Amino acid sequence: MKTIELNHPLIEHKLAILRDKKTGTKEFRELVNEIGMFLCYEAMKDAKLVKTEIETPICKMKTAKLDEDKYAFVPILRAGMGMLDGVISVIPNAKVGHIGMYRNEETFEPVNYFFKVPKDIQKREVIILDPMLATGGSGLDAIDLLKSKGVKKIKFLCIIAAPEGIKLIEKKHPDVQIYCAHIDDHLNENKYIVPGLGDAGDRIFGTK
Ligand code: PRP
Ligand code: URA
Repeated sequence: MKTIELNHPLIEHKLAILRDKKTGTKEFRELVNEIGMFLCYEAMKDAKLVKTEIETPICKMKTAKLDEDKYAFVPILRAGMGMLDGVISVIPNAKVGHIGMYRNEETFEPVNYFFKVPKDIQKREVIILDPMLATGGSGLDAIDLLKSKGVKKIKFLCIIAAPEGIKLIEKKHPDVQIYCAHIDDHLNENKYIVPGLGDAGDRIFGTK
């Protein structure tokens, strides 16, 4: 599946503030959540609705609702947590799992340190959250872990994606749809996205 990039003036505006090194923790956090919400909105375009009947103050009507029990958000710790409030505001009854992953600073390989997901995860559509898709190593491991637990349908929401990461995920997991706010240019020698926004986790949590 070809990666879907949000293409909208409002997103470009928000990304410009997010990327700016002068933007402080509070505003950075707010923007990560907001962009997460827009990504979730886009990712739900193919959602199947369940027919239902309601009564407005005027009359009865046939309509349709989302089956919120079909979804689980899985943020990749730490930075993915920054998107959680935003996506939960769109699908408040979705369950949440967590995958702990950090990149070894020398090898750039992901290290998995935590995995806890809802018991019925294999019955749910899983929406992975991580603001940065760089080499794609962390995303790839997260998808492998979820598939090994029987998950059939996975979407991957990220704010900035590098062509290298997209290529890897599209090759290894062509069934996983990636949604991103922007596809950037390349990775530098430290495997940071260029122009990117720096270290997403550090900027969200103010750790540097
Ligand atoms: C960042 C980011 C991704 C990963 C992307 O996490 O949030 O998980 O790097 O890089 P990759 O595509 O090359 O694997 P980091 O390892 O900095 O951990 P953190 O979220 O705890 O800061
Ligand atoms: N992780 C980040 O937080 N930023 C990058 O540019 C690459 C990996």
